[in-house]
Amino acid sequence: MSDHITVADQGPVRIVRMNRPDKKNALTASMYAAMADALESANSHRDIRCVVIAGLPGAFSAGNDLAEFSQAATSGEGLGSPVIRFLHALARSERPLVAAVQGLAVGVGTTMLLHCDHVVAATDARFSTPFVNLGLVPEAGSSLLAPRLMGHRRAFELLVMGRPLDAAAALNCGLVNAVAPAGDVETEAMKAAHHIAALPAEAVATSRRLIRGSPDEIAARIDDEVRLFKERLQSAEAQAAFKAFLNRKR
Ligand code: COA
Repeated sequence: MSDHITVADQGPVRIVRMNRPDKKNALTASMYAAMADALESANSHRDIRCVVIAGLPGAFSAGNDLAEFSQAATSGEGLGSPVIRFLHALARSERPLVAAVQGLAVGVGTTMLLHCDHVVAATDARFSTPFVNLGLVPEAGSSLLAPRLMGHRRAFELLVMGRPLDAAAALNCGLVNAVAPAGDVETEAMKAAHHIAALPAEAVATSRRLIRGSPDEIAARIDDEVRLFKERLQSAEAQAAFKAFLNRKR
């Protein structure tokens, strides 16, 4: 369990909220574990028909906690098992996933959206994946899912060149379905979730499997990325980048 993740069921819709405001929703191992629990248990609750992932005003998520990355780099570990469990839970979720994004969506804050079936973003949303700037490689299956969604060149610009997307650009490349004022984002996401939840559940599940393709393929790519990510975490490039962030002048 993590105090920084809340899970609430509203009828057939489960809302999983990242709630670590002082660190802009940077994700720790215990937060990943709690989100994995929420996604996995939704699969076994017949009454839950859709899951909404939400953050806070101004911060969907600042990505993986960089102090934990730095620790993993010095100890020789790679991404921890809670992270990997969460990524697999995304790839293998049997429930449609909706996201409500306000403000920052950095690293996994953006790549988890590639697993979602419907994304509503606030006008202040900003998506960025500074993996390569940190000496790392893309994760969460994004090396497979981003080019599939937006084409090679736009995926390269996002994932390798590290160019952020604002809400309009994210809408344009298909990363999000709709843009709304920040105050309306969750209402819009909930409307979409309740719409999905009211559809015939078996037909939704089968159609979703057809549209998404094989979860095994996505999970296999996640595992390839995890292996390469572990190597990159040990690199001098990555260690210097973590040190620079953690020691930056305030
Ligand atoms: N890991 C750990 N702590 C983080 C964090 C992260 N990914 N992102 C933000 N924080 C912490 C900051 O250290 C700061 O903590 P402090 O007040 O105890 O010093 C707090 O959250 C607020 O962040 P701050 O940098 O002051 O806010 P900002 O609005 O100026 O900038 C970001 C926000 C997200 C642009 C900036 O914090 C950042 O670049 N974070 C790193 C993002 C990242 O590289 N994530 C990993 C991607 S793979």
